[in-house]
Amino acid sequence: MKYDTMQCEIIYRKQPAPGIHDWIVDAEDFARAAKPGQFVHVLVPGKTLRRPISICDIDAENGTLRLVFQERGEGTAMLGQKRLGDFVDLLAPLGNGFELGDTSRRALFVGGGIGVPPLLAAARPFGQNATVILGFRNQESVILARDFALAGCRVFIATDDGSMGFHGTVADCARQYAAKTDVLFACGPKPMLKALGALAEEQNIPAQFSLEERMACGVGACLGCACKILRDGKEIYAHVCKDGPVFDSRSIVWEE
Ligand SMILES: Cc1cc2nc3c(=O)[nH]c(=O)nc-3n(C[C@H](O)[C@H](O)[C@H](O)COP(=O)(O)OP(=O)(O)OC[C@H]3O[C@@H](n4cnc5c(N)ncnc54)[C@H](O)[C@@H]3O)c2cc1C
Ligand code: FES
Repeated sequence: MKYDTMQCEIIYRKQPAPGIHDWIVDAEDFARAAKPGQFVHVLVPGKTLRRPISICDIDAENGTLRLVFQERGEGTAMLGQKRLGDFVDLLAPLGNGFELGDTSRRALFVGGGIGVPPLLAAARPFGQNATVILGFRNQESVILARDFALAGCRVFIATDDGSMGFHGTVADCARQYAAKTDVLFACGPKPMLKALGALAEEQNIPAQFSLEERMACGVGACLGCACKILRDGKEIYAHVCKDGPVFDSRSIVWEE
């Protein structure tokens, strides 16, 4: 399906942690077409630019998408005011998504903070073959751990302050499982991805990372989200919205 816009009703909403919103929206056509790792562009009434939010989970049978987002600035705060039964204008499905490949491989999923949501739909098909490491600032910030467990995955939590699970970064925690990993998927802050990229390279693990970049159009028309990548040994600019947000870790140029 090429992307389209649709008014989608919020049919479930909760706040699993302070400033975090968890929605299920009725979006039949998008749910049939969407792929893990793609995103929706949400219209904020009164704002020119839409806000990109990852597709957290896809229920093609019931025609719904799940979106989990954090209030960061004015736009996401306004979206946080939406109530059950309200409609949101979505442009979707956007971006390339993860290439999951053979789901009988041992997959390691690593998410940091609000980088965790796009990994749920991707980990689900791997079930018990997925080891999932989720990193947060502290115990109060933990989200979606139960959802990954219900999908059959082995879940480990890492917190910066040690209030829950492993005390330290997800990259340090991931090192313990690298030897038993055939493929790595990750989303989170750049320093986290950079450390995981080094680990993947050292252990020769194929890895796909979902990047976050400020966006305007969301469909490859404005160059607003350009990022440097390596293609055929040359540095070129790619659109995170259209060529990504998911990139092979070896193609990412890590700028300081
Ligand atoms: C592909 C992709 C997927 C994302 N998925 C999620 C998700 O699942 N959950 C979630 O909580 N957040 C996600 N984000 C980040 C989210 O888009 C920003 O937090 C949000 O746009 C901030 O908007 P604002 O109006 O609240 O903040 P403001 O700072 O007021 O925004 C001002 C402008 O900057 C843009 N902007 C600000 N921060 C970001 C950012 N980090 N990334 C991209 N644009 C930004 C806004 O879209 C807006 O156009 C994703 C970003 C990208 C690129
Ligand atoms: S946001 Fe316009 S090209 Fe990516």
